[in-house]
Order: sequence, then C-alpha cells, then structure tokens
Amino acid sequence: MSDEREVAEAATGEDASSPPPKTEAASDPQHPAASEGAAAAAASPPLLRCLVLTGFGGYDKAGDRVMVLNRSGMWQEEVTVPSVQTFLIPEAMTFEEAAALLVNYITAYMVLFDFGNLQPGHSVLVHMAAGGVGMAAVQLCRTVENVTVFGTASASKHEALKENGVTHPIDYHTTDYVDEIKKISPKGVDIVMDPLGGSDTAKGYNLLKPMGKVVTYGMANLLTGPKRNLMALARTWWNQFSVTALQLLQANRAVCGFHLGYLDGEVELVSGVVARLLALYNQGHIKPHIDSVWPFEKVNVADAMKQMQEKKNVGKVLLVPGPEKEN
Ligand SMILES: NC(=O)c1ccc[n+]([C@@H]2O[C@H](COP(=O)([O-])OP(=O)(O)OC[C@H]3O[C@@H](n4cnc5c(N)ncnc54)[C@H](OP(=O)(O)O)[C@@H]3O)[C@@H](O)[C@H]2O)c1
Repeated sequence: MSDEREVAEAATGEDASSPPPKTEAASDPQHPAASEGAAAAAASPPLLRCLVLTGFGGYDKAGDRVMVLNRSGMWQEEVTVPSVQTFLIPEAMTFEEAAALLVNYITAYMVLFDFGNLQPGHSVLVHMAAGGVGMAAVQLCRTVENVTVFGTASASKHEALKENGVTHPIDYHTTDYVDEIKKISPKGVDIVMDPLGGSDTAKGYNLLKPMGKVVTYGMANLLTGPKRNLMALARTWWNQFSVTALQLLQANRAVCGFHLGYLDGEVELVSGVVARLLALYNQGHIKPHIDSVWPFEKVNVADAMKQMQEKKNVGKVLLVPGPEKEN
C-alpha cells in the first residue's frame, strides 16, 4: 500500500515569494521554503471535489480533516502527498486557520525556541512583524513570561501589532530601528529574527546582547516591488553579512540559518513541533491571523498577489477553491 494520500484542498496559504499558479498547476513550483494547505478526506465540504485515501499515515480514516505541509505544488484543487506530511486539524480549527498555521508557526517556533532559546525576560526583534510569520512569532513570544518584543512594520499596522502583543512597534520607513531599540534597551536584544538579509543581518548581529542570536530565514530585501529589481539584488548580495569563528568567539554571539523547505526529511523533528503548536492552539495561546481570503481563480489570484506586493496584508493571505467570499 502506498503511503501517499490524495486530498482536495479547502484553503491554501500564499506567500509573497510564490509565483502565481499556472493552469497546469500540478507541476507548479511554489514557496521556496514550503507550502501549506488544509484539506479534508471527506465528501462533505462543498468546496471539495474528489477524495481518496490510500495511505497509512498518522491519520488514515476517511473523513479526517488534515492540513498539509508540502514543499511545493499546493496551489491546486487536488494534491497527492505522503501521509507523514499531513496533520489532523483540531475540531475547533477552521480550514482557513489550518492553512495559515503550518509554515508560519513552525518557522516562528523553530527560530524562537529551537535556535533562539527564548527564555523569560528576554527581548526579541521581530522584523515584518505584521506578516504571517511575524504575527505568529509575536504570539509565541507571549507564551513566555516577561518577553519584550520590538516589531518593525508600517505605521498603519501598529494598532494590529499592539493588539497582537508587540511591546514596541517601530515604523522602519521613518525611523532607524537600531537607534530606536538602543534608546529603549541600550544593551540591545537577545534574539533577532531576520527575514530581510543584506545589511539588516549585520545590523541585527550588532544589536545582540552577549549570548544573543540572530536567526536568518529570508531575503525579503531582494524584493522591492512587483518587478525584479537588479539594484536591490546587487545591493543585498554586496551587503551580505559574514563573520569569522574567531569573531563569534570573542563576541559571545551566534548566527543561525533556518529554512523549513530543507527540513522535509526531518519528519519526527517537524511533527514534534506541530504537536506542540496544536497544543498551544487548543489551549488558546495562539490563533492564526488571517488577512484576507481569495477565491482560487486567476483574476483574484492576481488581486491576492497585489495585496502582498503592495504590502497591505496583516497576517496571512489565503486562496480558496470555490466562489468569492467576503473579505
Ligand atoms: N526560511 C523559511 O523556512 C521561511 C518560511 C516562511 C517564510 N519565510 C520568509 O519570511 C519572510 C516573511 O514571510 P511572511 O509570509 O510572514 O511575509 P508576509 O506575510 O508576506 O509579510 C510581508 C510584510 O512584511 C513587511 N516587509 C518589511 N520589509 C519588507 C521587505 N523588504 N520586502 C517585503 N515586505 C517587507 C511588509 O509590511 P510593512 O512594510 O507594512 O511592514 C509586508 O506587508 C519572507 O522573507 C519569507 O520568505 C521563510
């Protein structure tokens, strides 16, 4: 028997770095890290077309609602995935929440806890704090006592940041975030979450307290708008951070790199993180923040992409198969 299962998607997470789907979606390359979706192995939800269960996964009962963690190819109505990449959706969780959970929260969790060693009393700099990973990270910081969170985002998103638990929102468009943090915390911070790359990695490193860590997990500085910008590419490459082992030793700091897409062979490791995340969800400590939900049709996919390219989103942008929903 195959250990694959076929699922039909109910909602799929979208990322700014993903290209829009093509009509022959089956071979569609997607998120460079990983993509996610929520699906059901039952005929009941009207959005689903076809469901066949063939696998021996953790969840092998027809009718299970599952979320899927897959490296690519999730922008389609039906997918076949190894059952180890599926996780049972808790009863109280909607398909949309499930689609918004895996990539954002696994990334935030592993960066903060597995690399960052987040402890009570720590301070954390979260860049892109109003994005999907950023919102997840801030909620996870709240699960530890007395954590100070500096979060960068456009000023229009600061109310949402405060509601989510950011202690000090910083508008990086108008303020030098390094100066701002140094004013509040002259010694700097314990953890820098760095999805930006380029010169921001060095700034993050220099903001670290002794025993601090900068965890780099993205290169958003490469993207400055809807079109490829060669100047930004060159600038980011030129400003790439580098450090020697001797410098690290003398500074008592660590630099880590995280890419969920390259952990796809680490089933036990990732499943353990998902189990802890689902426990936090069931206890009411985390809740995916959904910016907007878009129907799975080409014209609206373009609108969904625009929402991200224009940096309007707060939280996750989702695609769903089926008719238009109120946003
Ligand atoms: N390594 C991994 O496994 C992994 C997994 C998931 C995501 N990631 C990376 O993590 C980052 C965040 O992903 P996400 O899904 O949370 O993003 P998102 O939800 O699309 O958030 C994007 C927001 O970040 C802000 N931003 C700040 N600087 C930016 C820049 N230079 N370019 C684009 N947006 C910028 C913008 O808001 P404001 O300007 O209004 O603040 C924008 O609306 C991305 O770089 C992604 O590739 C990595």
